Amino acid sequence: MTFDRLQDDLFAPLEDALKRVSPAIERAEIAHILSVSNGVAEVAGFIDLRADELLAFSGGVMGIASNLGEDRAGVIVLGETERLRPGDPVRRTGRVVDVPVGRGLIGRVLDPLGRPLDGGSPIEAQDFLPVEQPAPPIMHRAPVQVPLQTGIKAVDAAIPIGRGQRELILGDRQTGKTAIAVDAILNQRDSGVLSIYCAIGQRASAVARVIQSLRDGGAMDRTIMVVASGQDAPGLQFIAPYAATSMAEHFMAEGRDVLIVYDDLTRHARAYRELSLLLRRPPGREAYPGDIFYIHSRLLERATQLREEHGGGSLTALPVVETQAQNISAYIPTNLISITDGQVYLSPSLFEKGHLPAIDIGASVSRVGGKVQLPAFRAVAGNLRLMYAQFEELETFARFGTQLDTETRRKLTRGLRVREVLKQREHDHIDVPEQIAALLAATEGLFDELEPDAVAEAERTVREAVRAQAPDICERIAEGAKLDDADRAALIEAMQGALDEAQTEANDGNA
Ligand SMILES: Nc1ncnc2c1ncn2[C@@H]1O[C@H](COP(=O)(O)OP(=O)(O)OP(=O)(O)O)[C@@H](O)[C@H]1O
Ligand SMILES: [Mg+2]
Repeated sequence: MTFDRLQDDLFAPLEDALKRVSPAIERAEIAHILSVSNGVAEVAGFIDLRADELLAFSGGVMGIASNLGEDRAGVIVLGETERLRPGDPVRRTGRVVDVPVGRGLIGRVLDPLGRPLDGGSPIEAQDFLPVEQPAPPIMHRAPVQVPLQTGIKAVDAAIPIGRGQRELILGDRQTGKTAIAVDAILNQRDSGVLSIYCAIGQRASAVARVIQSLRDGGAMDRTIMVVASGQDAPGLQFIAPYAATSMAEHFMAEGRDVLIVYDDLTRHARAYRELSLLLRRPPGREAYPGDIFYIHSRLLERATQLREEHGGGSLTALPVVETQAQNISAYIPTNLISITDGQVYLSPSLFEKGHLPAIDIGASVSRVGGKVQLPAFRAVAGNLRLMYAQFEELETFARFGTQLDTETRRKLTRGLRVREVLKQREHDHIDVPEQIAALLAATEGLFDELEPDAVAEAERTVREAVRAQAPDICERIAEGAKLDDADRAALIEAMQGALDEAQTEANDGNA
């Protein structure tokens, strides 16, 4: 036997056998848990896992693949980690986290994965959308065009908000931040604006209070509540605002106007810090990870007014941030101030003085909404901020017992009356024509003769007077007409008449 024959006999079958083998690598669809801590887990065994892929643990708990290493991955767990054990299997799902969207969500209280928390039936979804979505491109965006009325005089007059705007509500704890946001939702009764209230990291009792307010105000049938409370896993708290925004974007794409409240992003940042530290990402300033700015900017960039050819819908965002000891230059508040189009600042000292809502007008600003304020409103409230700032300055000086000339005294008198008019109780919404009437009366000096504590009553009188005596002007104002000199004079005359009448009645009563 020649050597060649031997080679053929030996190798030919081997080569044949080799041809039948296809050396494809099998994808590992199942891996196992290496370690678990409160909120995150480390898993090993997956090949080519994708970033942000949704993983399923046993017992229906889900997770997001987050820190991808060569042979292991850090996973943000979207549920209780207590029942997870090292060695338990983990399954890939091949998709990213998504939420149900559509009309079936309206009126419901849901968790960030769209599961009901109100004891009702499961959601009938029109569709599913990923929790993280790119913000609309610049070419699809239109400038802010339509005002979003909150029904709160101080906001609508001095810090007006437009649809598609992002206005931060910031202040220390218990200063009325949630009250402003909830009032803004309640006031959308006739505006056709849908609302989403996203509660992040709050106490269950605080969330229950908001739900009760919305139910009492009849707003639940145009509102979706997305709740990840303080007891929920940090992963759920982290995805809550993104999930709520995806639910909103579905309606925006249909051409609807949506208002979304994130209450609050301080707690959202803390949940993310907790996750990042557990995932052993390097901490930066105040122990927050380096991408803390990006997680909030990519969220708030999704709020916008879309162009007509893209449906013309809008998403207005009211993020809430809690400051500590009025420190608005802490890390998270400054980040959010720079991302948003303005802020409503609530002052604890005004709150203590009983000046409610405790909005510090001088420290608050709206960078875009003023351009779309109704023309009649602008005519009356245009220089309100400036006038009020001057008044506050004078008030500080007057406290030193300086001699005051008549002009200064007049400004002080008037400023004090305007301050009374800017006070407003919770859930007491005032529509635009009546707001204009109240502000016009105060700035024109109709209340100058009254004691400050009689202003609230007088304000009610003038509001009723314009409603009853000048309904046509009220209607035109609401439709966006300008307030010409004749209208202005007619309103003042009606209001003065009503005040005189009330005064006469009071005198008769005393006599
Ligand atoms: N305009 C108002 N008139 C009367 N009461 C008000 C007004 N605004 C807020 N309050 C009351 O002040 C309290 C605190 O309000 P709220 O819960 O909105 O504050 P917060 O800043 O959201 O508090 P937290 O820091 O706990 O979230 C509540 O009891 C609320 O009813
Ligand atoms: Mg609150």
